[in-house]
Amino acid sequence: MEQTIEQIKTSALQELEKASDTESIQALTLKYLGRKGVVTQYLRNISQLPVQARPVAGKAANELKQFLDNSFKQAIETIESGLSLSVDQLDVSLPGRTVYAGSYHPVTQVMHQICDIFARMGFDVAEGPEIETDWYNFEALNFPKNHPARDMQDTFFVTDNMVLRTHTSPLQIRIMEKQQPPVQVIAPGKVFRCDSDLTHTPMFHQVEGLLVDENVSFGDLKGVLTAFVHQMFDEQTSLRFRPSFFPFTEPSAEVDILCVICRGDGCRVCSHTGWLEVLGSGMVHPAVFENVHYDTQKYTGFAFGMGVERIAMLKYRIDDIRKFFENDIRFLHQF
Ligand code: DAH
Repeated sequence: MEQTIEQIKTSALQELEKASDTESIQALTLKYLGRKGVVTQYLRNISQLPVQARPVAGKAANELKQFLDNSFKQAIETIESGLSLSVDQLDVSLPGRTVYAGSYHPVTQVMHQICDIFARMGFDVAEGPEIETDWYNFEALNFPKNHPARDMQDTFFVTDNMVLRTHTSPLQIRIMEKQQPPVQVIAPGKVFRCDSDLTHTPMFHQVEGLLVDENVSFGDLKGVLTAFVHQMFDEQTSLRFRPSFFPFTEPSAEVDILCVICRGDGCRVCSHTGWLEVLGSGMVHPAVFENVHYDTQKYTGFAFGMGVERIAMLKYRIDDIRKFFENDIRFLHQF
């Protein structure tokens, strides 16, 4: 007998270590435990040993046979269950891999903040379709056909009569059609305009607001929007109501806040005016009420609309709106 049991065991295990697939382990099984296998051969040759050595050698050889049989079977099982043979070489001292949990997109976060503020003031939340008819997007909001005010919005047309909504104001009509006053609703959502530069993207988000009841005045509008600005930015933020024009409100006002960068001194961000426009608003035009068959003698109301990306840019001092849509993880991680 050229080889001892120990030597057979060592070489079998070394070969097993190198075997990476089922076939090579089956070949090993044959090589060591087959009819002409090394261990089998050893057992056969025991009769050639001195009588007193035979029982010990026989026991050792049988134990090795059992041991190798188990080891080969286990190795095959491990491979077939997809586990790596090197699991027991796992280096527990290696630093762990960080698992990054996802989070809300900054625009979604700001949209939630806006909705929360108005919800606390008693506003319900409504949503509507992103593809609108000309009636809801324009006509019912007192934009007559061929009226130059339609040029304020660079419309994507789906058909002659269907558009990607250019603002969330159509929700005013959809809500009032379904519900009698009192109405107190905000409507967040995506809007679309054919425009793209540092401060415009073809898709962006707006939040629309509408409040209709008896005796609603411009003072109510000012109170609600002032409370909103103070909660969205901070209590110290000054704001002003500047006369403006929208077909669906009369009178109309744009709301500016004191520039968050220069605090009114004038800088590049506020085009040296000291003020930043944050939303449009006004008292609902009687023509709009007539389109939804509201009693214009009994009810008055105010509406407002704001761009979510714009609010987010001012709040977080982001200078390029396109950053929101590039999905650069280094940018998004900061929120
Ligand atoms: N819809 C207007 C826009 O997208 C924003 C707006 C202005 C909404 C005045 C209003 C409003 O409800 O009263 O430019």
